[in-house]
Amino acid sequence: MNVLVAGGAGYIGSHVVRELKEAGHSVVVYDSLEHGHTQAVAGCELIQGDIGDPVTLSSVFAQYKPDVVMNFAAYTSVAESMTDPAKYYHNNVRKTLVLLDTMVHEGIRHIVFSSSAAVYGEPERIPVDEDARCLPTNVYGETKLMVETILAAYDRAYGLRYASLRYFNAAGAHPEGDIGEDHDPETQLIPLVLMTALGLRPRLQVFGQDYDTPDGTCVRDYIHVSDLASAHTLAAEALVEGAGSRIYNLGNGQGYTVRQVIETARRITGREIPAVDAPRRPGDPAVLVASSDKIKDELGWTPRFPDLEDIIATAWEWHKSHPKGYRS
Ligand SMILES: NC(=O)c1ccc[n+]([C@@H]2O[C@H](COP(=O)([O-])OP(=O)(O)OC[C@H]3O[C@@H](n4cnc5c(N)ncnc54)[C@H](O)[C@@H]3O)[C@@H](O)[C@H]2O)c1
Repeated sequence: MNVLVAGGAGYIGSHVVRELKEAGHSVVVYDSLEHGHTQAVAGCELIQGDIGDPVTLSSVFAQYKPDVVMNFAAYTSVAESMTDPAKYYHNNVRKTLVLLDTMVHEGIRHIVFSSSAAVYGEPERIPVDEDARCLPTNVYGETKLMVETILAAYDRAYGLRYASLRYFNAAGAHPEGDIGEDHDPETQLIPLVLMTALGLRPRLQVFGQDYDTPDGTCVRDYIHVSDLASAHTLAAEALVEGAGSRIYNLGNGQGYTVRQVIETARRITGREIPAVDAPRRPGDPAVLVASSDKIKDELGWTPRFPDLEDIIATAWEWHKSHPKGYRS
């Protein structure tokens, strides 16, 4: 396949790019580099551009003729989406619309879209399957649901086929240890825990201790970024081979509390990791655990790193060797 990876210089995109190249596909990365890293896609063609720029996109599409586009390009902070919603509607919805319109105009018919468990909001039942009610509790989740609504309409009207992948908590780093997570500011639990282990942050805040969970802290489903990568490759291959549009959850089907994550990280790193209690954050569901049976049944996806130990150990290798991320 010829694949254009928008947002491919970011955390998840760069791991997918690596996987696609290893599977023998031809890849071009298209990224504004606002939050991405050139070093994350070393050895791969990288075009600096914005998905909201139809002129540059059209010429890139004309030159590379991708069979499929993957779109990782988005802003990703739930908290910021509540304090600056315009920024999120503008980048995650309006600019994605420009990308989709340009694809339709240029006759490119397949897209794999980075959606999120945030579309579900507070789930009615656990594990969450793809038929669960979608009622996002933050603007970030709304932007993902809006794009899914647009994708369904573009499929019906223009024959644009899509796979929308609703990730739960992406975590871990490439087993070779040379690419990993580097967000600024960092908001994800596992990197924050490991940065605290390295002494780069004084302590970890644990938001909420009175949830209805085994130890009172929130339960989340962590999926290794390399397992996300293999799911993207399978989803893109299925689309190019003629599959219809699909929505798939991506998680491990197993939840861990915040305290279990900290304990596991203490074991793996051998470091103390100071943690302090902090109030609940509004809109944080108590438990979010995925059912990923649909993608397993339909595409034969199987996670290679389902264990929390492996997820944290690969992330630890990355953070230890890159304490300042790609600036190390
Ligand atoms: N990290 C997670 O746990 C998680 C969970 C669910 C969904 N997602 C989604 O997965 C995708 C990737 O997440 P990530 O953690 O790798 O984020 P990231 O910030 O590391 O990567 C996003 C990339 O997109 C680029 N980008 C942003 N806006 C752009 C634009 N307008 N034009 C071109 N490039 C642009 C950034 O420069 C960056 O390289 C996002 O869409 C995110 O919403 C992430």
